[in-house]
This record gives sequence, C-alpha cells and structure tokens, in this order.
Amino acid sequence: MTGGVKLAPSILAADFARLGEQVREAEAAGADSIHIDVMDGRFVPVISLGTPIVEAIRRVTELPLDVHLMIEQPERHIGAFMDAGGDVINVHVEATRHLHRIAREVRGRGKLAGGCINPGTPVSALESLLPELDQVIVMSVNPGWSGQKFIEGALAKMRRLRQMIDDAGLAAEVEVDGGVTVSNAPVCAAAGANSLVAASAVFNDSASVTENMARLREALAAGAK
Ligand code: DX5
Ligand code: ZN
Repeated sequence: MTGGVKLAPSILAADFARLGEQVREAEAAGADSIHIDVMDGRFVPVISLGTPIVEAIRRVTELPLDVHLMIEQPERHIGAFMDAGGDVINVHVEATRHLHRIAREVRGRGKLAGGCINPGTPVSALESLLPELDQVIVMSVNPGWSGQKFIEGALAKMRRLRQMIDDAGLAAEVEVDGGVTVSNAPVCAAAGANSLVAASAVFNDSASVTENMARLREALAAGAK
C-alpha cells in the first residue's frame, strides 16, 4: 500500500497464455487484489471471461479477487462467481433493478459487495445503497476494453462519493477503474479513491509487471507528499 491507496491490477491486459505467472508477478510486486473483468457481450459489446478463469486464478494467489461483473442479469450469476472464489462481487447499478438485494445476498455469504457506476451514471444512483456496500467503483472509461483514455469527469464523482461515505460514517472503499496511469494515479488518490484498478499500466510490452507496479507506487508516494 502507498499512503493507504491500494493497487488492483486488472488481468484484462495480461498475457492469457501466461496468466498464472503474470498474477504471481503482480502479487510479488505488492498488488493488493486482482481485478477480474467479466463481460458478457450484452451489457458491454465484448465477451471476456467467466468462472473457469476465476477458479484458475484462485489457485495461484492468496490475494482477494475483485470480480467486476459487466453483465446483464447479474443476479443469475453472482452465486457462481462467489463459488469460483470471488471475494468482492461488483455489480453495475445499470445492469439490475435489485442491487440492494444482490448486495445483501453477497454479504450474506460472507463476501464483500461492490456497486459500480458507468461514466454516464450520477453518484446519486448509489447514494441509498452505500450502507449495503463494501466498495463503490467509479468507472473512468466506458466499460468494455482496457487501454482507453481516462475520463476527467470521474474525479468529481470520486470526491462526492468519498464525502458521502465519510459524512455517513461508512467504511466503503472508493475504487476507480479505467485509464489509470502513472500521471493520474495521484490525482485519483487525492480525489478520494483508495483503490486503483490498472490493466494496461501494469500489463504491457514496455516494462515488466514489477517495474510498472513500482512506477505506480512511486507516483502515488510522490503525489502523497
Ligand atoms: C474496463 C474494465 C477495466 C479495464 C481497465 O471495461 O472494467 O477494469 O481492464 O483497463 P485500463 O486500466 O487499461 O484502462
Ligand atoms: Zn474493471
């Protein structure tokens, strides 16, 4: 951790032919959790991965698995992702009418419940759910792909959510997801995000996972001074 800010590498940009190795490298480099992006080709245009990958990752790391469900009718699938080893089950408010019920079901199984909002969704969509949530995810790209540009408007949403959570005396984490880089990581932390998801900033061809994680940590430490 750097100044209390956690890093959650997203495997979406990893080399899937070497997935176990890449997850182990991220863990050794000090990742706080592993973010797993599940896409169904309906809620978002593309299909990514499902429960077999979550099970496989569960076998190679002790880290919490932060499962980000970008799927329609998430209520049909949350049990399977918890059975597969997911620790934090993140569901989009846009994907269900019943996030409150889902969050209670997730917590009822001793897991952590997350609620996510797309760039076009206001923070008010999460307001009355905050007591039921362990984490909120502010999307700073439109979900579907790694490597997109950070949407600046997400910063105000992080600030607002952090304030709402603190004012209510709640403990939910604020996670930012999409377009996080060495440049904007400290800005996100200053806006109240205490967990940063990063796919292409961690898994890329320009440097190793270890080097990329170290650069993010250094940027956060410098920004925190
Ligand atoms: C976007 C996913 C993100 C994605 C982030 O649909 O939810 O988790 O992997 O990728 P980067 O960090 O490359 O923007
Ligand atoms: Zn994600």
